[in-house]
Amino acid sequence: AVTRTFSIIKPDATRRNLTGGVTKMLEEAGLRVVASKRIQMTQEQAEGFYAVHKERPFFNDLVSFMISGPVVVQVLEGEDAVKRNRDVMGATNPADAAEGTIRKTYAESIEANSVHGSDSDENAAIEIAYFFKPEEIVG
Ligand code: CMP
Repeated sequence: AVTRTFSIIKPDATRRNLTGGVTKMLEEAGLRVVASKRIQMTQEQAEGFYAVHKERPFFNDLVSFMISGPVVVQVLEGEDAVKRNRDVMGATNPADAAEGTIRKTYAESIEANSVHGSDSDENAAIEIAYFFKPEEIVG
């Protein structure tokens, strides 16, 4: 089925002017950008977005990194969008990511790993609603 997922182009990628490069790989994987905006996340926004990780040892560093520069938040649409996006992103740690994936191509480290993508349809809906009003999404 055609579904939606949520994506973030992270500060390591915007800093290196890779918004287009990442988006091209998403599009070539069969995903369509149906909403997109470049934002500077606040600390509160980043903490809320990653609340599920708040007990993890990397939480504070993760939040600091995500507010260290602009990000591009996007809604992506396509056949099995969550899985399609996870496949093109590659493993969280670029050292484990397959050839041809976004993280293998662009990521610097497990933290500065260029992209975030939702891990389920349920979380995709929550994450999309965290950053976008319904009328900002044009399919
Ligand atoms: P993301 O999909 O945005 O979700 C949580 C993020 O935490 C993850 O991508 C990684 O970039 C980041 N992170 C930093 N350190 C770790 C770690 N040791 N294990 C897992 N994720 C980590």
